[in-house]
Amino acid sequence: MENILETLKKELIEVSEEHALSEIKAKYLGKKGLITGLSAQIKDLPVEEKKTFGANLNKIKNEATSLIEERKEKIEKEILDKKLASESIDINLPSTKVPVGAPNIVEKIVEEVEELLMSMGYDVVDGPEVELDKYNFEMLNLPKGHPARDAQDTFYLKGEELLLRSQTSPVQIRTMLEGKGEKPVRVICPGKTYRRDDDDATHSHQFMQIEGLLVDKNISLSDLKGTFDVIAKTLFGEECKTRFRPSFYAFTEPSVEMDISCHVCKGSGCPVCKNTGWITVSGAGMVHPKVLEGCGYEPKEWSGFAFGFGAERLAMVKYNIDDLRVFYTNDLRESKTFDRKGDN
Ligand code: DAH
Repeated sequence: MENILETLKKELIEVSEEHALSEIKAKYLGKKGLITGLSAQIKDLPVEEKKTFGANLNKIKNEATSLIEERKEKIEKEILDKKLASESIDINLPSTKVPVGAPNIVEKIVEEVEELLMSMGYDVVDGPEVELDKYNFEMLNLPKGHPARDAQDTFYLKGEELLLRSQTSPVQIRTMLEGKGEKPVRVICPGKTYRRDDDDATHSHQFMQIEGLLVDKNISLSDLKGTFDVIAKTLFGEECKTRFRPSFYAFTEPSVEMDISCHVCKGSGCPVCKNTGWITVSGAGMVHPKVLEGCGYEPKEWSGFAFGFGAERLAMVKYNIDDLRVFYTNDLRESKTFDRKGDN
């Protein structure tokens, strides 16, 4: 018995694979195994030896079982350690870059303006891109044949009444008609607009405007100036100055162009501001009495201001981009560059 255990121990030291270990187990403890076979001898022993022999055999069996079990655990651990070592991850290696998109910069500008004006009590409203001539022009004091219509080379659909809106100003009309001449109005409407322009660095047949309209009692041009000032400072920084220049829009009286001081040269003159120190970013004015009246707002009682930003123009000025087409060519590298600039 002692010999059997000794040879088993030697064999166990040499074995290093699971299947070889199973063979050893079978050799000693299997049905016809060396240790199992010993029990056959019990019947031939004298009675007084049977008991000790049986007890010893059991002891040897238990010891052999635990020796094999111990070796099995060791072999399993060795295999696992080897596997872990071969699959180990070098955390110093550069990882695979997963490409991530970035929001279009025009969309970002629109969101910035929306957020600011909502904090000032404005609602964001929507209007149709296929619009009636009546709302896009007529009720904005631009009757058929008005020369100012020419500046907005319009896509007409089916005759003369239906068109792709050439500006977001028709949403002013729709909003005031809803207010029925009774409710004050405070809305902005960002949206797509269309003109029959040939696409180049500064023109696009589709572009984005952000319309603003405020109608209430006792509203004056200085309210517009104050509002514009806040927008300009939020978008272009605290040191940004603003100014009005006289202009003409059929639906506002007086009408103005709204300029910001050049954020590149701080007003001293550079190519971005064409050496004027100022950059025009929006048309605006006091809502024309005829427009108020046409929408049911009594001009003696109500007054208001309106403005229309070009969203691409704002983005171009803010991020110093000189070609409008980059916004619409879906080149991810562009939006990523702007995104980084935007985060500065
Ligand atoms: N709709 C004008 C345009 O496309 C921009 C504009 C000017 C909008 C003055 C306004 C405004 O609301 O008051 O050129």
